[in-house]
Amino acid sequence: MNQPLYVQGAWFIGAVLFIFGLKGMGSPGTARRGIVWAGVGMVVAVLATLFVPHLKNLGLMAGALALGTALAWVSGKRVKMTDMPQMVAIYNGMGGGAAAAIAAIEFARGQAHGPATTGLAVLGALIGAVSFTGSCIAFAKLQGLMKKSVRLPGQNVANVVLTLAAFALGIALVILAPGRPELVLGFFAVALVLGVVVTLPIGGADMPVVISLFNAFTGLAVGFEGYVLGNPALIIAGIVVGAAGTLLTQLMAKAMNRPLANILFTPIASGEAGAAIEGSLKEAGPVDVAAMMRYAAKVIVVPGYGMAVAHAQHKVWEMAVLLEEAGVEVKFAIHPVAGRMPGHMNVLLAEAGVPYDKIFDLDEINGEFPQADVALVIGANDVVNPVARSDKSSPIYGMPILNADQAQNVVVVKRGKGTGYSGVDNALFYKDNCRLLYGDAQPAIAEVIQQLKALG
Ligand code: TAP
Repeated sequence: MNQPLYVQGAWFIGAVLFIFGLKGMGSPGTARRGIVWAGVGMVVAVLATLFVPHLKNLGLMAGALALGTALAWVSGKRVKMTDMPQMVAIYNGMGGGAAAAIAAIEFARGQAHGPATTGLAVLGALIGAVSFTGSCIAFAKLQGLMKKSVRLPGQNVANVVLTLAAFALGIALVILAPGRPELVLGFFAVALVLGVVVTLPIGGADMPVVISLFNAFTGLAVGFEGYVLGNPALIIAGIVVGAAGTLLTQLMAKAMNRPLANILFTPIASGEAGAAIEGSLKEAGPVDVAAMMRYAAKVIVVPGYGMAVAHAQHKVWEMAVLLEEAGVEVKFAIHPVAGRMPGHMNVLLAEAGVPYDKIFDLDEINGEFPQADVALVIGANDVVNPVARSDKSSPIYGMPILNADQAQNVVVVKRGKGTGYSGVDNALFYKDNCRLLYGDAQPAIAEVIQQLKALG
């Protein structure tokens, strides 16, 4: 359907803003600007759509827009940093659901499209519906509404049968042309159930990868439906989201050294065996830890999931400033999958005011650990576990890790003997050069700060 030039032009501008926005999100320094650009792009694209000639139901659209904006505004303002993954999951699910709904309306209207376009509408509907219900399950798990991972007897068979059934109904829709309500309903019912069944057995901690995958799905679905509607802004936004989601999914899977199929179909069983670890756990108090760092030349801080849970990032930065004032060089080392979502640590450290030039990725900093007097590991576990380098029987074998064990001294802040997300014991904690400072990360670092101040 051809739209007037001003609408096409505005959609094009919206699409360009999405691309520049995404480019900006590629680096912490420009991420905020990138988000604003992409948001402006969305406003331009939506407003332009309202100027499509002969548009009906303007009142309904205005109502939906007002409702959506209000809900997003309130939830965006209220959401806690630690609840961000589930917020992304639910918003992402809405995108997939919206793409599926567009297709459903096209089918229900019996809109005459060629078989190729109907085929794309069917594919978009299938992917969007799976992403919708899958993301809702991901949300429920991360929000703690659903505590257990449910694995059906014959889970993989169920996945295959439902997928084949969805494709068969989809092909029937294309061949027999849309407009047959029983086919449309059957197709959507199967696609929605497929999303639930595929996601139910996946463990809560694997959810960020799954959410990223569904994000890519949503992008694809939106792109396909954009083609059906002849809307270039939707096509470009969909392609951009689809490509970014796919790359992010791959990056996360690689950083965890777990093939995607493994994440989706064989979740890590906690407590899986590994070789026996030698050595003993040695405790250190805040006084020792403060002194060790105060008289060091170089300290590398390795934050992990525990720092996020304890909301300790502000205290950590306060401690780093004190050390720097005393002439100690302080750097922050970030593992790509530290925490529970991509960029988790970067976001927290940025929120606490840590300058970007003090934050280093795994490849940039790993060579510096042998020159560090102290590696201070705060609530991180798997991402510094040396068994990933050496123990072929370990479930995390092959995962790239931060070489904290190579520092002259290592201090690990954690509450007790809890394992990390993988459930694997950590050989680092038992090494001769490692000391454990037990406690919740926030009060533990606060005590170190007190001792640093006392040392002057
Ligand atoms: P984890 O391996 O999960 O270890 C976190 C550690 O923090 C635990 O040993 C825990 O020990 C400690 N802790 C928990 N609460 C604490 C608190 N309030 N104060 C102090 N310590 C606390 O974390 P990590 O090293 O960041 O690794 C992340 C893991 O998640 C990796 O295995 C990764 O593959 C996985 N994962 C990451 C992502 C993304 S995208 N980031 C996605 C999915 C999975 P205690 O219980 O003894 O305190």
